[in-house]
Amino acid sequence: MTTQFVGDIADAGLARAGVARIEWAAREMPVIAQIRERFAKEQPLKGIRVVACLHVTSETANLMLALRDGGADVRLTASNPLSTQDDVAAALAIEYGIPTFAIKGESNETYYQHITEAISDRPQITMDDGADVVAILHKERRELLADIVGGTEETTTGVIRLKALAKSGQLEYPIVAVNEANTKHFFDNRYGTGQSTIDGIIRATNLLLAGKNLVVAGYGWCGKGVAMRARGLGAQVIVTEVDPLRALEAVMDGFRVMPIAEAAPLGDVFVTVTGDVNVIDTASFETMKSGAIMANSGHFDAEINLKALNTMAESRETLKPFVEEYTLADGRKLVVLAEGRLVNLGAAEGHPASVMDMSFANQALSAEYMVNNHQHLEKQVYDVPREIDDEVARLKLAAMGIGIDVLTPEQEHYLNSWELGTH
Ligand code: ADE
Repeated sequence: MTTQFVGDIADAGLARAGVARIEWAAREMPVIAQIRERFAKEQPLKGIRVVACLHVTSETANLMLALRDGGADVRLTASNPLSTQDDVAAALAIEYGIPTFAIKGESNETYYQHITEAISDRPQITMDDGADVVAILHKERRELLADIVGGTEETTTGVIRLKALAKSGQLEYPIVAVNEANTKHFFDNRYGTGQSTIDGIIRATNLLLAGKNLVVAGYGWCGKGVAMRARGLGAQVIVTEVDPLRALEAVMDGFRVMPIAEAAPLGDVFVTVTGDVNVIDTASFETMKSGAIMANSGHFDAEINLKALNTMAESRETLKPFVEEYTLADGRKLVVLAEGRLVNLGAAEGHPASVMDMSFANQALSAEYMVNNHQHLEKQVYDVPREIDDEVARLKLAAMGIGIDVLTPEQEHYLNSWELGTH
């Protein structure tokens, strides 16, 4: 029997397992569940064609179902060649009828081919994680721009790319930067990346982190999370930074801070979370200890200079899934996890559902906002409206059964007055 579906997936036989995984994630996504229920009643996205280029995980599947139930015509394509959960992709395409283009381990060529197929349906809303759809539309498929009313962007790296595009005056439609919501980056970037990155490193290596020197390159929200959780497991954490304020913050948070050149010979494990290129480069490879392990948790696989490492190495061997060892001419061996791609999604399952619940609530509500407000927006990158951010926090707290205080009228008055000082 052939199974009918639209998309390109690894194995249709995984669809039932994918449903179970999606339902498991749903247990930790009460905010998305509430939004899905309201969307099903109100149909705010009725007939809107949405292309989503996101990591194809069980959490993303729950977002897709909320959008679909809100009336959207959704197509999903992977936002990274290594992050797809093949069972989830199969479930989405076959059990839920959502066209899905994603295969774990796909080549870069297939990755771009999948995006091309996903956008062939003339999308009206784009939902990106890393701005690849926006980049392709602006560079190669400009004829599709006419139908697009707006977009959303999930991640720090994507927002940086989009702001550069807007600054150059070439952005052709408004985009909401979901990453900038407090209910996104405080939680997803910090606690999500913190836990899932360590999870990826441990699943790939089964390494004991206690007593190891773990170098975190970058002390943004993601770096803070990784450093915090590595310390919790007993690692001696060293932070490298280029930003003086963040470096100072890391010092006062109790971490050693030094340039990468000094950290390179000390580190047992290196994690890059900077969003920049060649953060670990030839000079570092030359002084690293034999056996040093490198992992990246920044959006693109550009942070560890693998091209240079490949050139320096005499041989390369896959020791186990997601663990590759490079042997250098002097006999030292350097290890790279998950091909230098996002280690948390390559070697583990990405951020836990509970944080993705908030990130994707912002996505769903921002898509609704874009449909309702695009006429009044410029071709710029916008923050998530404060009301949406606050609403997500309120819904999450309520779902967790946590109550908070409200200001008394006297306290409100006090906060709004300048006359009242020392009592
Ligand atoms: N980004 C990081 N973790 C993720 C997850 N679990 N699902 C989708 N996108 C993610």
